[in-house]
Amino acid sequence: MEERKGFASNFGFLMSAIGSAVGLGNIWGFPFKMGISGGFTFLIIYLILAALCGFIVMVGELALGRKTGKGAVASYQVLSKKFKWVGWLGIVSAFLIMSFYCSLGGYCIKYVVLNFGNLFHAGFGSNGLDGNGIFGALMTNQTESVIYGLIFVVLTMIIVMGGIGGGIEKFCTIGMPALFFMLIVVIIRAVTLPGAVEGLKFMFVPGYALSAGIIEKAPNFLTVLSTAGGQMFFSLSLGMGAMITYGSYLDKKQNIQKNAIMIVCADTMIALMAGLAVLPASFALGGAGASMAGPKLLFVTLQNVFDNMGAVGPVFGIIFYLLVVLAAITSSISLLEVIVTHFVDGDKEKGKPDHRKKYSIIASILIAFLCALVCLDGLGSNGIWVPFQSIVGVRGFNDCWLDFFDMISEGVLMPLGALLMCLMIGWEIGPKTVESECNIEGNKLTCMGLYTVCVKFITPLLMLLILGGQIKSFFF
Ligand code: TRP
Repeated sequence: MEERKGFASNFGFLMSAIGSAVGLGNIWGFPFKMGISGGFTFLIIYLILAALCGFIVMVGELALGRKTGKGAVASYQVLSKKFKWVGWLGIVSAFLIMSFYCSLGGYCIKYVVLNFGNLFHAGFGSNGLDGNGIFGALMTNQTESVIYGLIFVVLTMIIVMGGIGGGIEKFCTIGMPALFFMLIVVIIRAVTLPGAVEGLKFMFVPGYALSAGIIEKAPNFLTVLSTAGGQMFFSLSLGMGAMITYGSYLDKKQNIQKNAIMIVCADTMIALMAGLAVLPASFALGGAGASMAGPKLLFVTLQNVFDNMGAVGPVFGIIFYLLVVLAAITSSISLLEVIVTHFVDGDKEKGKPDHRKKYSIIASILIAFLCALVCLDGLGSNGIWVPFQSIVGVRGFNDCWLDFFDMISEGVLMPLGALLMCLMIGWEIGPKTVESECNIEGNKLTCMGLYTVCVKFITPLLMLLILGGQIKSFFF
């Protein structure tokens, strides 16, 4: 059997895992969710959840992956036959998340091109349209949306075809530091704009969104908990086997606990930095009635910011949207890798050669169809039928395909996957299985006592609350 080639260095692994975690969820989801869910209060709840759920599940996923040396489905199968189907939930989630992730990534590529157009006063710039006009035109231009979505799918596919060391690790080792640098440049510009302080208040003053009239009523505790929890799972790429997959390629010498801490901290830090880059500028230059929530923040409000910045606007626009494209690609490759690893490993088991390229292409074709559907729908702009549309009062399900796929994956499958994984570790195979994998080569899971209590009781309980809150939010 051919050797299974993994990450060449711990730095490469870290960049790839942080790359997976840092994505649209950080740059666009986190800032506005924090704002409308109570600013600083949300942040505190998020941090507690990241420590008591995120870190615990992260260590679990990395350890299970490395222990078995296999992808999502096979890992569960080796450890406990009963839980094999949880791995399959992960594969389904990967397809669903990719469907909308690639279409949003495609929109970001479009905005890079658009800002280049503005820089050179070319025909493919804003053409006198404001943010709303630009975004509306893109949503109803189905051909253009689909083309950009497919470009994003192809870029993801090419990197994954290169394999873990040759494709993913190489791309992330260069891409992530570049992203960090570009983010700093944008933050410096954003916080020095006149009026930026409103954005900082939105982020850090509890209840500011309410008192400033951005939201109508204060969210209750369960809503904030489930918003923060759902955001945390998505942002850390947990609950669907992505970290199991990356863990399976990690060298036995490396320290799992330390890596998990670094991934959780880096992801949270970049989410906060993204808030500093996005919100102050939106308040300062986003125009009257600027939207702070949903896709409009990224594609309407921020484009207005760049258009209002004067001559340097397009330059910052290019840097910003390029940074988002980078963040999105380093995440989408981890999603595609979950699928590809599963099939490549399956073949190896049967003694067949490595067909990574073939599987990358087949999976990408399937994803391309789903992504095209989301693009054609244009966030519900084009009157395309959506399942459950007729069920009155079910929020999200009657909006658009993006929300539909998002609700199923982020809203249900991922918290459910993470909950089941905790139950398996806590009650079926035992936390010692995780500990023994962390404690090889002189490394140590120093927080084993806390780990055991969390994985058995605290984390599952919090996850039930999150899952309940998410499901409730579909209806109210
Ligand atoms: N974490 C990414 C983000 O914040 C999205 C992502 C990548 C993801 N891989 C994942 C989410 C795996 C869940 C599971 O945008």
